[in-house]
Amino acid sequence: MERSKRFEVRSRRPVNLDTFVAEDAGLGLVAMDSPNDPTPSLTLVQGRIVEMDGREEADFDTIDRYIAAHAIDRSVAEEAMALPSLDLARHLVDISTPRAELIRLLSGCTPAKLCQIMSHLNVVEMMMALQKMRARRTPGNQAHVTNWRENPVLMAADAAEAALRGFDELETTCRVARMAPFNALALLVGSQTGRGGVMTQCAVEEALNLRLGLKGLTTYAETLSVYGTDDALRDGDDTPWSKGLLASAYASRGIKIRFTSGTGSETLMGYEDGKSMLYLEARCLLLVKGAGAQGVQNGAISCVALTGALPQGVRAILAENLIAAALGLEVASGNDAMSSHSDMRKAAKLMLQFLPGTDFVTSGYSSMPRRDNMFGGGNFDAEDLDDWMIIQRDMRVNAGIFPITEDQAIAVRRRAGQAMQAVFRGFGFPEIRDDEIEAAALAYNSDDMPDRDLVADIAAAQDFLEGPLTALDVARALDESGFADVAANVLAMQRVRVVGDYLQPAAVLDADFAAKSAFTDRNDYLGPGTGYRVAGETWARLSAIPQQQTAAQMVPLTSGAAGVRLLPRGPAVSGTRTDEVVVGLGPAFAEDLDHTLCGLSHGQVLAALTEGITAQGLVPRFVRFHDTADCGLIGWQAAQLSGSGIGIGLQSKGTTLITRKGLAPLNNLELFSQAPLLSREAYVQIGANAASHALGRPPMPVPVRVDNMSRLRLIVHAMLMHKREIAAVRAGQAAEDLELGFDA
Ligand code: 5AD
Ligand code: CA
Repeated sequence: MERSKRFEVRSRRPVNLDTFVAEDAGLGLVAMDSPNDPTPSLTLVQGRIVEMDGREEADFDTIDRYIAAHAIDRSVAEEAMALPSLDLARHLVDISTPRAELIRLLSGCTPAKLCQIMSHLNVVEMMMALQKMRARRTPGNQAHVTNWRENPVLMAADAAEAALRGFDELETTCRVARMAPFNALALLVGSQTGRGGVMTQCAVEEALNLRLGLKGLTTYAETLSVYGTDDALRDGDDTPWSKGLLASAYASRGIKIRFTSGTGSETLMGYEDGKSMLYLEARCLLLVKGAGAQGVQNGAISCVALTGALPQGVRAILAENLIAAALGLEVASGNDAMSSHSDMRKAAKLMLQFLPGTDFVTSGYSSMPRRDNMFGGGNFDAEDLDDWMIIQRDMRVNAGIFPITEDQAIAVRRRAGQAMQAVFRGFGFPEIRDDEIEAAALAYNSDDMPDRDLVADIAAAQDFLEGPLTALDVARALDESGFADVAANVLAMQRVRVVGDYLQPAAVLDADFAAKSAFTDRNDYLGPGTGYRVAGETWARLSAIPQQQTAAQMVPLTSGAAGVRLLPRGPAVSGTRTDEVVVGLGPAFAEDLDHTLCGLSHGQVLAALTEGITAQGLVPRFVRFHDTADCGLIGWQAAQLSGSGIGIGLQSKGTTLITRKGLAPLNNLELFSQAPLLSREAYVQIGANAASHALGRPPMPVPVRVDNMSRLRLIVHAMLMHKREIAAVRAGQAAEDLELGFDA
């Protein structure tokens, strides 16, 4: 087969490691709008739903029955179903239709109706709608905190750092199920060391999960998975009622719950019934609402690569987030599982939730390196944090992660390790040694941790689970060993649970343990000037990334490091020697600036030019111009003064040109406009070429490095140096001849 080299190169790009599959409705390979999806319909008889989306009550499956009985608001259903879907779609985007009115109307819609509304929206419109429909006014984020070795010290350190970075919720899980109590404990202690009020969970089998919550070690759970067909639900030994019961069990003990659903799961399990992924997800979301859950984590979640393999799969994922929000549910919007080999494709998909903001932009940002992620790897990992924060700063968007300094990170990690050490000591658990704490403070990943006796840890973790100790004892142990502040935070987390504030919809806690929820922090977006805005202290924190430098740091004031002294020798006059080349220097040269952009000292540059000129048998004459910072004018004036008629113009940042008397000011013989790419050898050749022009010899090519990124790296430096050159300009001050004094 004929091969284009460009196609060949592209075929090796990361994005082409992703899988792309053609739609096939018979196999459930349709993201949205399957030909097998029902047409929206609803029939009510005396307030009872007797027909829904083309199916008679007698034919309802369990999900239909649950939705009909518990999810659809029958008081608005007839009104909502009678409205054209296009009108409802427009209301979602319309800034003058408030969120509450849309929730009222969409709560009366059937799954097929919800999908039909989505079909009218492009992704930008969905983003507009999501910005308005998100439950909480302030967007947030959730982190994953795990490690392959289940090291409790490292886990506490990672939790503390994640909490300090601003995550509202932290989620862990286990590689070894019996370590769950220690992982939950590490997250509790670590999180409350980093920032009081951060909620935590440990995703494990439900009975164990519930016990961890009852001990006060965790404060939320989002393990309740649901699926959109009866067969898929039954595969997980579940019915809508069993899930509802479990949700109530958590909630009855004050534990915040969120269900998990997402497009693709039914197709993956083989029980999709030929329906589109979005239609089945709409059924899930109504089921979640019917069960009384305050929220959901969706957005394909673990199935993202399957939905994403399809045409408009990523659009469907945004649509499912939007349906959830439009039903009034808190949404943790995915972006947690690996979605692409391509950084560009991952970032593009992320923007759909990152820019409008969701209650949790990711369902779990991998706060550690990928190998330590026990959720099967993260879509965004510890390595990507700086990209995330710089994009927030670029766009003035709060996507829930705040910059911290390296010192802050190390300090909070160390303290979390020490707090864990205190708890382990107080409880008589296997000792946490000081060297483990130090390793955790500085670690990249769990390979950096010294070995622990995993068998002894597991035994102690099991005793902890079976025994009487609870979060209250954790607080006591901390309090008795110099961690009164962490103890107070752990205790406060229990107090909030007893009060019931975790059960407010979309509740997260601020540092004062006040619930920030859809009640207390209601999303009131109604167009420009309303809703959440990044401002004040939040903007100050988001914009002040540690990489940011001040102008003074980037281009410091000179400290006499030019390596040359320029001694004025009176006003520059027109030369008569035909063997001279006049080198015109900018006003700040070797004064207010002392290095070029490429890092050569001004002395090195003048020595190199001298070397090149004298090698051709000519002599340089150096003249400082005070009245202009413009390279063209400096060179032009130098040529006017030159006995040979050849002048070199040299700005302090290193930009150089060669010109000849008689040429127009903006015309020249050779221009070297990319100062960062000029080396010492280049300046030698520029000197030699200037002399060659004077002698009527052909100039040689100047060795200029090719670096397309130099402008990107140095544009700010260039601007600052030029500004300093301009500041040195003295209008009307005559040019001066200079004598060079080189330091030994
Ligand atoms: N639908 C339902 N549940 C999901 N989970 C992940 N993705 C989905 C989805 N699309 C749940 C499963 C899985 C856990 C990580 O989250 O229970 O095991
Ligand atoms: Ca999660």
